[in-house]
Amino acid sequence: MKTLHATRRQLTAGAVLGMVLAVTVTGCRGWETDAPPVHLNWNMDTQEKGKAYRKSDFFADGRYMRTPPSGTVARGFLKEDDARSLGRVDGLAVTAFPAGMADPEVALARGQNRFGIYCSPCHGLAGDGDGIVNQKLSVKAPSFHDARLKEMPVGKMYEAILNGVNAGNMGSYAGQIVEEDRWNVLAYVRALQKQRDPSVTLGGKPEVKVADDAPPEKKGEGLYVSKGCNACHSIDGAKGVGPTWLALYGRAEKTSKGAITVDDAYLTESIREPGAQIVEGYPPVMPPYPLTDDELNNLIAFIKTLK
Ligand code: HEC
Ligand code: HEC
Repeated sequence: MKTLHATRRQLTAGAVLGMVLAVTVTGCRGWETDAPPVHLNWNMDTQEKGKAYRKSDFFADGRYMRTPPSGTVARGFLKEDDARSLGRVDGLAVTAFPAGMADPEVALARGQNRFGIYCSPCHGLAGDGDGIVNQKLSVKAPSFHDARLKEMPVGKMYEAILNGVNAGNMGSYAGQIVEEDRWNVLAYVRALQKQRDPSVTLGGKPEVKVADDAPPEKKGEGLYVSKGCNACHSIDGAKGVGPTWLALYGRAEKTSKGAITVDDAYLTESIREPGAQIVEGYPPVMPPYPLTDDELNNLIAFIKTLK
């Protein structure tokens, strides 16, 4: 027993001595020093290179992060073909799929796969607008089997994926879906539509370019479609997400500010600042539009014709 105790004591003493030694040799953290830390094996831990947010003595502006010289394009990001990368050429949405697209069978399979992941949560697996997420949205994702979407030029659908719709009512999916796949998804959307209505065309109905010298109400009618007001406002009396424009001018209404009669000033305010007065019975979801004065006046002229 005695020898055992002695051995334990020696062991403890040894351990304490070891710790004291270790601390003496390596030094104590907490002491201030300007010397660099002891780093026995440098290996590749620290390299002579510039890191994004570090200060640089090499460049005159003191930054390692460089701005690309103007006119340079990152490899693989050269967009020469507006039809393919933007879906719109000379102000008009394209009505053709890009030339040289993948074999339709491959395009459809890939498109169905991307559609299932990125579109079906709202637009539904068969495109009926019955996705589970749609139940929670105040502005609903439309059914792809609506007349408006069956006729929509494919380039305008492409824009929906690229930029989103109406100031974020639908977000952009450009970050998730690469250019080629956006077209693949649309090939699948068209296939869904054609399945129920064989008269649907791949390209959709071309947008009409309103002549520069057309009367204001004609231009306004063009804007009604091109600005997407038709997504929420009908002109035939049907209730949509927003009130119908049929017989809107002169109508007596209740808004969040009380009873009003629709006149030019009210229309201007409703379009310029959608949040200023909310029509009773409707959600405050109208997006603000950056419209020129001319565009605004043309829209109002068009609304006045809807009696
Ligand atoms: C999170 C829900 C959601 C998802 C996911 C979604 N959408 Fe939408 N989408 C909407 C809503 C909401 C609208 C209606 C917006 C409006 O009218 O202001 C819409 C409208 C559209 C329109 C009509 C655009 C127009 O100009 O009226 C197209 C085309 C469309 N979506 C395509 C797609 C495609 C293709 C995908 C998949 C890549 C997709 N959407 C994914 C919610 C969604
Ligand atoms: C996403 C759906 C949506 C879109 C797209 C939309 N609106 Fe609206 N708009 C509404 C809703 C909802 C209301 C009613 C609530 C309110 O007063 O904001 C409304 C109200 C209005 C009113 C007042 C109507 C009334 O009965 O008093 C006008 C005028 C109007 N919108 C014009 C436009 C124009 C012009 C565009 C296209 C440039 C447009 N809206 C696009 C949803 C929309």
